[in-house]
Amino acid sequence: MSKKAITLLFILALIVTSLSIVVYLQNTSSMNMESMGNNAKQNSSNKVLPLSKHSYAENIVNPKPGQPIKKFNLIALEGTNEIRKGEFKPIWGYNGKVPGQEIRVTEGDFVEVTLKNILPEPVTIHWHGYPLNSAMDGVPGVNQDAIRTGESFTYKFSADVPGTYWYHSHQQGSKQVDKGLYGALIVEPKSSSKPDKDFTLILDEWTESNDDMESMEGMDMGGANESFATAEEASLAEEEGMREMYNIYTVNGKSGDSITPLEVKQGDVVRLRFINAGYRTHTVHIPGTNIKVVSTDGQEINGAQIVKDKLVSISPGERYDIEFTVENNQSFYIDFHDSNLFNDQIKIPVLVDGNQQEYIKDGMVNLELLDLSDYGIPSEDSFTLEQDYNDIYEIDLGIQLNDGTLQYTINGQIFNELPPLILKNNNLVQVTYTNKSNVDHPMHLHGHFFQVIAKDGKPVKGATLSKDTLLIKPNESYTIAFEADNPGNWVQHCHELHHAAGGMMQEIKYIGFKSNYTLDPANTFNNPE
Ligand code: C2O
Ligand code: CU
Repeated sequence: MSKKAITLLFILALIVTSLSIVVYLQNTSSMNMESMGNNAKQNSSNKVLPLSKHSYAENIVNPKPGQPIKKFNLIALEGTNEIRKGEFKPIWGYNGKVPGQEIRVTEGDFVEVTLKNILPEPVTIHWHGYPLNSAMDGVPGVNQDAIRTGESFTYKFSADVPGTYWYHSHQQGSKQVDKGLYGALIVEPKSSSKPDKDFTLILDEWTESNDDMESMEGMDMGGANESFATAEEASLAEEEGMREMYNIYTVNGKSGDSITPLEVKQGDVVRLRFINAGYRTHTVHIPGTNIKVVSTDGQEINGAQIVKDKLVSISPGERYDIEFTVENNQSFYIDFHDSNLFNDQIKIPVLVDGNQQEYIKDGMVNLELLDLSDYGIPSEDSFTLEQDYNDIYEIDLGIQLNDGTLQYTINGQIFNELPPLILKNNNLVQVTYTNKSNVDHPMHLHGHFFQVIAKDGKPVKGATLSKDTLLIKPNESYTIAFEADNPGNWVQHCHELHHAAGGMMQEIKYIGFKSNYTLDPANTFNNPE
């Protein structure tokens, strides 16, 4: 045998040995971790669904050879926003603007966003809904240290999943997102034709004066509600208080006449990307127009049918893309029909062919809500209620008074007392959320898309909805399913961020996952709620 052949054989033997060591280590570690015990229903006969098309965690913090790189620089700083004509509000914004710069890239791009913080408090960026490596997820104390004043951090991820997403600070969200630290992340599909017009519309609510905003901070942890006999009374009072206090509604940071008209031409195919960055659910109406709701939370709705004069409900954290063709040259307003108090401030003018003369008045009442659990056509790779799951979790969303303080709970506990939800790579997971409180909870899961499979125990019809945020109203229960395909440290929480701050948040950990992030020993500045 030649010297070369012997060397080759030796290398081969080395590779085989180290591979088996790795396999052995993986097996033993997962065996050990099994005893960490979730109440999993173990089952070997799972059909593995073609759901995960991406291996998110691998090779994602560095570009692949030849991958186009798109770089952005953001500075978190104080700014001023002319919210209505002549009315200036102090804000915190990425580059001092609200919303922050839209990050629009093409599927397949590698995105690098360098954030420098010159605000007096630590901040982060969380890429809401985007499946990326958890080291880039921006949850302080969970997957990164918050970026302190004067520091910078570069977020990197591969934009492999097209759709409408958004980004926001995850440090003290109920304060920082409220102050304006948010923007849109749009990943355009590589193939498929572009619409003629593509508008991003970010909804939000503000308080009249900045003093109110400061006083809201005191309410973040529920405040002291000593005068209430029951948690139900306290939560209704808090809800009502905020409903009235947040009395300026905005679209892309502007209210009323200051909202920029959407300029279109007759015959245009228009895509509207609605993002709810606020804390109230808004139901939008595109009057007299044939529309299709083509995606939710960035994920396509299979076989979306044309509907007319139906309302589309958009909860905090959710996104909906609506498409329509401009049918005539009559300008009109997109408006909102719901019990919110200040909808007249967010009529969005659609200016057709520059026709300023008259905008059609909508005036329609008692419109029906589009029922997404019966819209579109199911896809073949849907999870079902009947199939086997490795892990089945029940999550009860509740409220309680603790020493007069209103708390928002998950299974009766608040964030810092709650044990993490445990996932295992490649397991199929089913979660049932039940809202046992008297207020809405839009629940958001980081790092994964889930499918909505049942409502109140009954299978949903229509298109398979792949989402990251789901509204659960009082007394409702929803069952979702997903594949644990993105090992990392994550969280789930209510996206009514005051509720998250009041406790409705939980860590999610993968068995055997080791993060290369170690918590700063002086962890006091991390505030993930
Ligand atoms: Cu949009 Cu954990 O957040
Ligand atoms: Cu909530």
